[in-house]
Parts: sequence; C-alpha cells; structure tokens
Amino acid sequence: MRPAAPAALPPHAAGPPVTGAVAVTPTTIAPAGGLQGTVVGRGRYAIDRMLGRGGMSAVYMARDLHVAGRLVAVKEMVDQFADAQERLEAERDFAREADMLATLHHAAIPTIIDRFSENNRHLLVMEYISGENLEHKLEAHGPFDEETVRAWALELCSVLSYLHGRQPPVVFRDLKPGNIILQPDGRVRLIDFGIARLFKPQQKADTTALGTSGYASPEHYTGQTDARSDIYSLGATMHHLLTGRDPSKFPPFQFPPVRDLNPAVSSEMAAVVEKAVRTSHEKRFATVDDMRKALEPKRKKKNAAATSPARTSGAPPTPRPATAAANGHAPAAPVPAQGSQTPPVTPAPFAFPSIPTPQQRSNPSNTPAPAPAPVAAAPTPAPIAAQPAVQAAGPGDRGVQRGQARRLRRHRRRDRGAHRG
Ligand SMILES: Nc1ncnc2c1ncn2[C@@H]1O[C@H](COP(=O)(O)OP(=O)(O)O)[C@@H](O)[C@H]1O
Ligand SMILES: [Mg+2]
Repeated sequence: MRPAAPAALPPHAAGPPVTGAVAVTPTTIAPAGGLQGTVVGRGRYAIDRMLGRGGMSAVYMARDLHVAGRLVAVKEMVDQFADAQERLEAERDFAREADMLATLHHAAIPTIIDRFSENNRHLLVMEYISGENLEHKLEAHGPFDEETVRAWALELCSVLSYLHGRQPPVVFRDLKPGNIILQPDGRVRLIDFGIARLFKPQQKADTTALGTSGYASPEHYTGQTDARSDIYSLGATMHHLLTGRDPSKFPPFQFPPVRDLNPAVSSEMAAVVEKAVRTSHEKRFATVDDMRKALEPKRKKKNAAATSPARTSGAPPTPRPATAAANGHAPAAPVPAQGSQTPPVTPAPFAFPSIPTPQQRSNPSNTPAPAPAPVAAAPTPAPIAAQPAVQAAGPGDRGVQRGQARRLRRHRRRDRGAHRG
C-alpha cells in the first residue's frame, strides 16, 4: 500500500482483468481459485473452501495445521507476468507490502499471519473473520437504519484515522461495502488492502486500477489520492447503506440527496454524507477525525434544557454510546417503494426506498420525522462539526452527579443532627 497511486479506472473496472491486452502465457497459468483441498505453505495451511473470488485472486478459508487447526483466510493472487524481471519485482513488492500490512495493529484490521510466493502464486495468510460482507448484507436486507450506519461509520472513521496517522500515511483507497465484514457481534472489520493490484497484468503497479467505480473519488482517476479520497469512499459507502442505491450501478460522482431516497434519515446525517462525497476534495471534511466529530450523536442535554427547563433530577441524559448501535445489525425495514424517481438500475433484490414529491422536498418539514433521531434539523452541515463529542461529555456529567450526591449526604447529616439535637 502506498500513499497515492494513479488509477485509470473506467466505470465498472473492478471486474476481472482483461488478459488479451497483455503479453501473458495463459495456457501455462491456472487462474486463481483452484486450491481447495490442497495444503499450501510447506504443509501448513489446509485449504478448505473458497470465500470470494476476483479476477486473478481468490480468498479461501483454511486451517493452520501448525497452530491447533485455527481458522485462517488465505488470499491467493496469481500473476501473469511473462517477463521474469517483472515477476521478480512483483514478488518483491508483494513481500514489502505484506510486511507493511503486518505492522498494522488495529482491532478492525485482520492480523497478517504469513506470506509466501510459490511459482507465480502469491499467498497472504491472515486472521479469519467470521461474518458477512456488507455488500451481501445490503443485497439481502436493503438499507440500514441511521443509528446502525452511524455506529459502523464511527468504527470505520477510527480505523481510517489510524491508517491516515501512520508515517507515511496509509490511504486505503477501496472502501466499499464489499470490503467491510460485519461480524456476528455487530462490529465491522476492514479487509482487502489492495495488495492484489500488484499482480494486475494491464499496468505497472503505480498505475494499477484502484478503487471501485461509484465509491472511487475523482482523484482516484487522476492518481492524487489522499486521506480525503477515503472520506469520499466512506461517504459513498454510507450513502449506499442508508439508501440502498448502489453507486457502482450509476455514472460516478452522482449522489442524489440522501433524504430524497430515504426521508427517514435525519438532515444532520444526510449533510455529513453529502459533504463527504463532494466532488471537490477541498469541500469535504479535511480529516477523517472531522468527519467522526460530525457523525457523533449530539448531546441531548442542550436540546433537553431548551425544551424542558424544569428537569431537576440529578440523572444526566445518557446518550447512546456510539458503539452500542453496532449490535443492532438487524437491518432497518426497507422503506417501501413508491413511484421511483431514481435512474433505472439493474434489478436489485430489495425494494428501493420511496422518494418524496417535489412539494415534500421543497418543504422538508412535511417529511415524516425520523423516529429514532430526536435531534433538530440543521440546515447546513457546519453546526454538526461544532458539536462536542458525546464521550467527552461523560466525565463532566458524572462530576455533576457526584456533586449532587455530596450535597444530598450533607443534607442528610444535617437532618440527622437536627433530629438528635
Ligand atoms: N480475512 C478474511 N476473513 C474472512 N473472509 C474474508 C477475509 N478476507 C476476505 N474475505 C472474504 O473474501 C471476499 C473477497 O476478499 P477481498 O480481499 O475483498 O478480495 P478481492 O480482491 O477479490 O476483492 C470478501 O468479500 C470476504 O467475503
Ligand atoms: Mg475486495
């Protein structure tokens, strides 16, 4: 993985590479995906079944025979370099990038266990993550509710912040639902660090197609990716998760307003997503931490104070911790489809959400209030970023509680004293 690399990425370029344009020896090289039932890595990894397959790569579930048969994921990448020098360079790049990945330590990133190259196959062994990727989840269940998406997005912000904070910064570049696994415990993990691109035969490594049309920012196409390109892809991913509209099926860089597709989404959340997918990177969040702050649920105290000044109880408001919603991985009921105004799409196995009428759009207060989001609608994204973090408010609130408890004890002592006296 490198800080930035150009991507000549035509729409829908994420499919299998076309081998006809390159000098290869296809008859002597078996494509990826035929390792089931074999043992690779000098008798160490017994390949069980295939988990996923791209053009020149495949991912398998395997057992590590050296470590109590633990489950691992083995990613197989097949190169098609006819030129021995090119293959040598690709092997070197593979080793270097796999070693770099092995230095990453974050709860949302699978641990790298091993790597090796055999003939023209390059294998990366990593921690097996149980669960299902969010692309499959979307296909099965349709859009997800706002709080669930918020919790996942906050986790993704955390891992992106970690990557962007590395020296040199690591730009993930292919964030999309298919590269996020939802674990049974509701947490999300990031997979597919793009190492397979080293073996794409069409181009040199530094011009290899990166990213996926629909989720890729304009800079992905010009090779000037930076942290804000990941912010764009995160925004595109959230847009897909909230609306059910798959951006890879539409011309790139066009995102209808979130609430046009799913009016149940709050205007604050819509504003965050729409800011993240601005075409101009300067208009997006400057950093993923800025995006995280904008995503964090608002403190309800301010609103509560404004609406119910009579609240005298010592109990502070207890906003839901960001991660709590992660467990709610049961999807939101898809918004029922009414006369769709979205561009035509290839048939999807779930209902597309309803679209409000132009009148509703010009008068957003007519749109149904999103049930779980009691936060007042904000007309612009700016005030969102200015909100303090919920977590940061915790200790302060506890301090208030402690003060009240002390006062109560003092009163009781005084009462007892007065009674005795
Ligand atoms: N570490 C892992 N643990 C479990 N499943 C994985 C792991 N890595 C990949 N997969 C599965 O394999 C699929 C393809 O993996 P990915 O690395 O995204 O390959 P590709 O380069 O083909 O996109 C994923 O969508 C996921 O379902
Ligand atoms: Mg992938």
